[in-house]
Amino acid sequence: MSTKIKLQVNYLDHLTGIVESPQFSWSIDSPFRNCLQLQYQIQIAEDDAFSSITCNTGLVKSSQSAQIRVKDFHPEEGILYFARVRVVTEAEGQEATESKFSPAATILGGLKHPNELKEHCITAEREEDISRSKGTYLRKEITIDKQVRHAVVFSTAQGMYQLHINGEKVSDEQFAPGWTTYNHRLLYQSYVVTDLLNSGTNVLGAHLGAGWYKGTIGFQHIHNFYGDYAALSLRLDLFYTDGTKQSYYTDDSWKGSYSPVVNAQLYDGETWDARLEQEGWDRPGFDTDAWWSATSTPCTSERIEAQVGSPVTLQEEMAPRLAFFTPQGDRVIDFGQNMSALVEIRGQGKAGDTVELTCFEVLDKDGNVYTANLRKAAQKITYTLKDDKPFVYRPHFTFFGFRFIHVSSFPGRSDLDNFRAYVVHSQMEETGTFACSNPDINQLQHNILWGLKSNFVDIPTDCPQRDERLGWTGDAQIFCRTSSYLVNTYTFFSKWLRDLALDQTPDGGVPHVVPDLLNKHPFDDWLISQGTHSAAAWADAAVINPWVLYLTWGDTKILENQWESMKAWIDFMKAHAVDNIWNYKLQFGDWVALDAEEGSYFGATPNELTCTAYYAYSTQLFAKAARVLGRAKIAEEYEALYNQIVETFQNTFFNTDGTMTAQTQTAHILALHFNLAPKKYLSQTVAGLKKLLAAHDGHLVTGFVGTPYFCHALSSHGCVEEAYELLLKDDFPSWLYQVRKGATTVWEHWDGIKTDGSMWSPNMNSFNHYAYGAIGEWLYRVVAGIEIDEQAPGYKHSIIAPRIGGNLDWVNAQYRSIYGPVGVHWKLGTAPKTVELQVTIPANTSATIMLMDAATVLEADGQEFKPNASGFEAEVGSGHYTVRYLLR
Ligand code: BGC
Repeated sequence: MSTKIKLQVNYLDHLTGIVESPQFSWSIDSPFRNCLQLQYQIQIAEDDAFSSITCNTGLVKSSQSAQIRVKDFHPEEGILYFARVRVVTEAEGQEATESKFSPAATILGGLKHPNELKEHCITAEREEDISRSKGTYLRKEITIDKQVRHAVVFSTAQGMYQLHINGEKVSDEQFAPGWTTYNHRLLYQSYVVTDLLNSGTNVLGAHLGAGWYKGTIGFQHIHNFYGDYAALSLRLDLFYTDGTKQSYYTDDSWKGSYSPVVNAQLYDGETWDARLEQEGWDRPGFDTDAWWSATSTPCTSERIEAQVGSPVTLQEEMAPRLAFFTPQGDRVIDFGQNMSALVEIRGQGKAGDTVELTCFEVLDKDGNVYTANLRKAAQKITYTLKDDKPFVYRPHFTFFGFRFIHVSSFPGRSDLDNFRAYVVHSQMEETGTFACSNPDINQLQHNILWGLKSNFVDIPTDCPQRDERLGWTGDAQIFCRTSSYLVNTYTFFSKWLRDLALDQTPDGGVPHVVPDLLNKHPFDDWLISQGTHSAAAWADAAVINPWVLYLTWGDTKILENQWESMKAWIDFMKAHAVDNIWNYKLQFGDWVALDAEEGSYFGATPNELTCTAYYAYSTQLFAKAARVLGRAKIAEEYEALYNQIVETFQNTFFNTDGTMTAQTQTAHILALHFNLAPKKYLSQTVAGLKKLLAAHDGHLVTGFVGTPYFCHALSSHGCVEEAYELLLKDDFPSWLYQVRKGATTVWEHWDGIKTDGSMWSPNMNSFNHYAYGAIGEWLYRVVAGIEIDEQAPGYKHSIIAPRIGGNLDWVNAQYRSIYGPVGVHWKLGTAPKTVELQVTIPANTSATIMLMDAATVLEADGQEFKPNASGFEAEVGSGHYTVRYLLR
């Protein structure tokens, strides 16, 4: 067995568009215990054989294996680098050994002056197309008469685009350039295209659609939100073997035409008329007589920046499971999984025949097609055949949230073979796995993961199906920690947080949705009158999300990058607080809690309480961030502010008899989870929460604010069994109620489908909202007990403290940290009250293993377990450990 190394650059296998010196991190997979790194060597080359080395650190004495910068490495524009690392380690009973080099990670150098792309936007659209959402083509023939060693395209678009070279798609990226706050910034993509080019005539082509840029977006259906013309801007760099270099840009010598996309909208879907197809439009020799000259158009973004990773791509192919007719006689195809996907259709008919289908999430009570909850999103595909040959079609500029397809028109009878679904989401490595002996919990875990897959489509959205799909800050905040166990969210959230910062109001207010649609061009009267930004738990994404990324990766860079944004948000609350009580205009409060008044979305916990609780929590995190960054004066200032807020909270929301002024579950959860209860009233607050739980027969009635922390508030205050009971409830309302009702993703409402089979109002009833999936965090952190140590974040030192309970026989969970997998597998032994715990700790890290509620350690696997208040604990180095203990 040898030591294996996996290298990542800025936490990615393939980093693109980078100009400044990136960070190298690697995991060391060693079969030995207590494996520590003594030295490392990083090599960077321009070829994968590492024959032309650009940088070579030589062996560096260092125990650091994450966030390393190579001093002399400054990526050059358009150059593709290969990087690898090897290490010298020592381990228990082993001499110092040298590893082999890791497989290479790649780095593609980005544009030094990306704003130059602003000068090269061209469009095939004309004035009459301003309010249309047609597809357009752009193309240009170039002649290459020298030998190309390496070729790179840097490209972006206003709208969505797919790049073609000589008849081939350049990438399987979907919806490029992705959604950013376009008025501020637009991202460019970087593609290596060497293999697509030939000597002689070559064709560069692009297919453009309206996308978020000018297509209909938001629940008020605004179009042309960012601009009027779908436009492309690119630069092709050819590096010749003779050492010279040539660049081509988009300009008005390009030709344009309409594509067969008659209409494409994100919510409504795509209409494709195959009779308008132009065979060979993206290949040399195509006759462009009927095409027209492209025109230059201004770039509407302040600046252009690089997309560094996590593009949206086709992730999984899904075959349908069932085709049937509903009681009303509709033809329906069932994929058995709610998801965000592109439908692919194939079939045969005659010219002029059409395929028409609508994608939807659930069947109604009687088993019929239910589309009311899509609101105005048509989620429809219309395809017109051009001839009697077999056809295959997949939409280009739209995606749907669905499990079912209603086929309203098809040449001949449609069946399973006629459909495939391609799941789309941002590319992120899966990092977490969780399984246990309870199949319902495993289904819940599955639903949480699919909620993530469905809603991490370039930005974190609330839902993927109805006419909304917006970057609601609250949803993204609530789910951030859970998502960061499941997948590598670093690039995804860093990108979105940059947009959040850019979209903040001048005085630090944080919009309800990012990219912000509500403040820039106000279009919703009710929201404008009530407030378009700065709601507690929503706006706190500005502080909580960077903090979660910092904890998960131990990377201070995210705190530095977001520093101004974080500070501005705290200062906004401070400026609007009156005597430390913060409240401001429209608050969503404990959104969609069941203790809301009949028909209302607003839970019963008073806004002043939720707002002030979050004010305290975010201020505390901000002060911690200041400490981490060594900004001691600011840390002191905000620690003092935090103490004042806590004091005010205690004086305001606790009565002198120790009860809380708001008798809601969420008020108690916040007080407990954010440590806001006065010490003297702590046990009373816990008792209060238990009483409020009992009042509902052990059920939660909490919304977006209380739900994520409910089990934490219980388990960290001596009520592990109560937390498990809550998790395991399977009648209404509960997490497992949805599972029992056949959910394959997490619902927006506890009563999305009521016990009698009827539905919550179609106005707002998504079956694919990840917010309540935030319970996933408790499964990893408490049930499996994989916890980050704030003093050594990024899993440099882990705290392993599983809580046995809930009638579970076993749990098996793993999180792949930057250092390697942290694993926990516990199972009940055959003898009563015995537990076998297997723990995996990655090389070059350490952990505290806590045997919670242990009475005796039966087998310590050579480790020294010491008794503590909650059981036993031992400090361990890396390796696999099997421990057996007896529960109290
Ligand atoms: C969204 C939520 C969001 C909320 C704001 C809804 O329409 O779907 O998830 O957070 O509005 O209260």
